[in-house]
Amino acid sequence: MYVKNTKEILEKANEGYYGVGAFNINNLEFLQSIIDAAVEKNSPVIIETSEGAMSYAGDGDFRKGAKVLADMVKSFAESAPVPVALHLDHGHDIEHVVAAIQAGYSSVMIDASAKPYKENMELTSEVVKIAHAAGISVEAELGRLVGIEDNVSVSERDATLIDPDEAKDFVEHTGIDFLAPAIGTSHGAFKFKGEAKLDFERLKKVKELTKLPLVLHGASTVLPRYVELANEYGADIQGAKGVPYDVLKEAVKYGINKVNTDTDLRVAFIAELRKVLHDNKAQIDPRKLFKPAMQAIKEVVMERMEVLGSVGKA
Ligand code: G3H
Ligand code: 13P
Ligand code: ZN
Repeated sequence: MYVKNTKEILEKANEGYYGVGAFNINNLEFLQSIIDAAVEKNSPVIIETSEGAMSYAGDGDFRKGAKVLADMVKSFAESAPVPVALHLDHGHDIEHVVAAIQAGYSSVMIDASAKPYKENMELTSEVVKIAHAAGISVEAELGRLVGIEDNVSVSERDATLIDPDEAKDFVEHTGIDFLAPAIGTSHGAFKFKGEAKLDFERLKKVKELTKLPLVLHGASTVLPRYVELANEYGADIQGAKGVPYDVLKEAVKYGINKVNTDTDLRVAFIAELRKVLHDNKAQIDPRKLFKPAMQAIKEVVMERMEVLGSVGKA
């Protein structure tokens, strides 16, 4: 079933101390694989699209893309027996937020985290007004997404990661529904040079002071088995490292409820596709080549649902 407001999914997750996967898509193949996984695991799921995904789906026109993606997600969600929400990931301006709202998204993220605090607060407050009037929820971000390295000083760390007191003030002034705290993750396949470390003390304080559903960006695990498979079949992804499952479980224990995942799906799809192309040189039907790659996405998503504790929570 299509969920009109993502709050319905994330408030339950907050009360029940579990995490829900939010998976990025750009096309039909990723969407089908994710929904198949959610149905098999009887789990709620959040589908998200970046501004880039909107432009891609609309052949350069993000408004058209938002509508194409929303229509596709709604049509699959309607026949699925599990809650499916659609979220705008990293919206940077009012134009993209409004395009998502008009297309019928269930929530939007306004990411003004690169702006000074006061500007972030003003833009976020404006988005909250517009989105709440449309009956959907808003995610915002505080801090910058960077890995915590051992040789970083406390003051450098404080400058990039979320400040819990600022978070409390931000939530009270803006009225946001979900908050993404920067606690040491980063986007992409190269998150840590050494040990995968997140600032859980900071996370606990943010949860205690805001009580909101919290969002972990840059949460991909970067599974070694798919990195190795991709490299075996011609890719060159060296030194890739993500957030291990035990660290994700701890993050959920301390208050993370939405777990953003894009890289893991990309790596699994590409690894399997490289293998299938290599093993089936006479095959020219893209559907037959995509199927095993879609199955890899489905397996990754199901595994994450187990790790986050959303299995059976539909
Ligand atoms: O956080 C960013 C997501 O991984 C989306 O990336 O802008 O390449 O679509 P994208
Ligand atoms: P990954 O690159 O770790 O998959 O993070 C995705 C994300 O945060 C999307 O907003
Ligand atoms: Zn992100």
